[in-house]
Amino acid sequence: MANDVVRRTSSVRISIPIQIPILIFFLQIVLGSAEAHDILLPSQRHNDSLPRLSYTCPAPNPNLYYRPVIGIVTHPGDGASGRLSNATTASSITASYVKFVESAGARVIPLIYNEPTETLLKKLELVNGVLFTGGWAKTGLYFETVEKIFKKVLEKNDAGNYFPLYGICLGFELISMVVSQDHNILEEFSASNQATRLDFSKNANLNGSIFQRFPPDLLKKLSTECLVIQNHYYGISPKRLLGNEKLSSFFEILTTCTDENDQVYVSTVRSRNYPVTGFQWHPEKNAFEWAARQKIPHTEDAILVTQHAANFLVSEARKSRTRPDEQEVRDNLIYNYEPTYGGKAGKGYDQVYIFT
Ligand SMILES: *[C@@H]1O[C@H](CO)[C@@H](O)[C@H](O)[C@H]1NC(C)=O
Ligand SMILES: *[C@@H]1O[C@H](CO)[C@@H](O)[C@H](O)[C@H]1NC(C)=O
Repeated sequence: MANDVVRRTSSVRISIPIQIPILIFFLQIVLGSAEAHDILLPSQRHNDSLPRLSYTCPAPNPNLYYRPVIGIVTHPGDGASGRLSNATTASSITASYVKFVESAGARVIPLIYNEPTETLLKKLELVNGVLFTGGWAKTGLYFETVEKIFKKVLEKNDAGNYFPLYGICLGFELISMVVSQDHNILEEFSASNQATRLDFSKNANLNGSIFQRFPPDLLKKLSTECLVIQNHYYGISPKRLLGNEKLSSFFEILTTCTDENDQVYVSTVRSRNYPVTGFQWHPEKNAFEWAARQKIPHTEDAILVTQHAANFLVSEARKSRTRPDEQEVRDNLIYNYEPTYGGKAGKGYDQVYIFT
């Protein structure tokens, strides 16, 4: 006991002489910079004899569009295994994708997969980028709609209108099927509800990719800590992707992951020639999905991953040349629909938009 007190006392004696010079040092910085840059202390602000701050806001970059809109393709079903709607025409968007886009400074127009093609094509003229969500549907009208929109995205880019696309989980799988023109290109993996790290490919060119503007320390943690959530039974191995000429000339592999049976699959890709990014993982979930038994990481670093992934999509969309009529945009925004709280039972998605 007595020893403890002595030790504590002596440590205080040592630290005081160190702390005082440090405090003075910081005070000097604060006061010094106030003089240099006209930063006024609160007590000085009401003094009229001091010069007032005057400045002009620099004009934003005229080449960028600051009201970007992202089209999200709906997925068949109610997104809640029939708990919310059994209508055969129902399709849905999990609200976490909408929040993901909105959190980065863009709005959302739903691209309802079973709408007439004419309507879909008209809506595509109102958006500055597209997102294909996760899900399970790989055939029929849904596949055809995704394929049609994917080809339109490439067409727009070929015509000189920068137009980004995110394919997430199923979205990436479908793009792989379309690009390879092989409906059996996917392989089975065991990665449902698994938090993982990302293994970055050697020589991966991150310049201009989703990872370019991740802070270096976060990028490092992505490769050592489990900051992303996987939820898939299918995927593609690096071997199969690289062995397929159409896929390997379209995509560059940025990261891979390992499933529960130690099988390696491709987890992040970028297109070599188009602003297209594919994810086998779910960048949208960390910040917005809370089902009880899911292993979704919710740490501050995991939330930053969601935010940086969203920021990249929207920063790409701002480069789009599309300048749609504002009223037409408003008439089609997702705000014309209401999300349903489907996660009250502690399972499934927290909120879904259902279109019938
Ligand atoms: C949909 O059908 C299932 C199975 O018949 C049923 O349990 C469920 O309550 C139905 N959902 C709705 C919203 O009616
Ligand atoms: C990154 O890519 C841009 C074009 O997207 C290019 O202008 C720039 O030189 C590249 N930087 C590096 C370091 O490779």
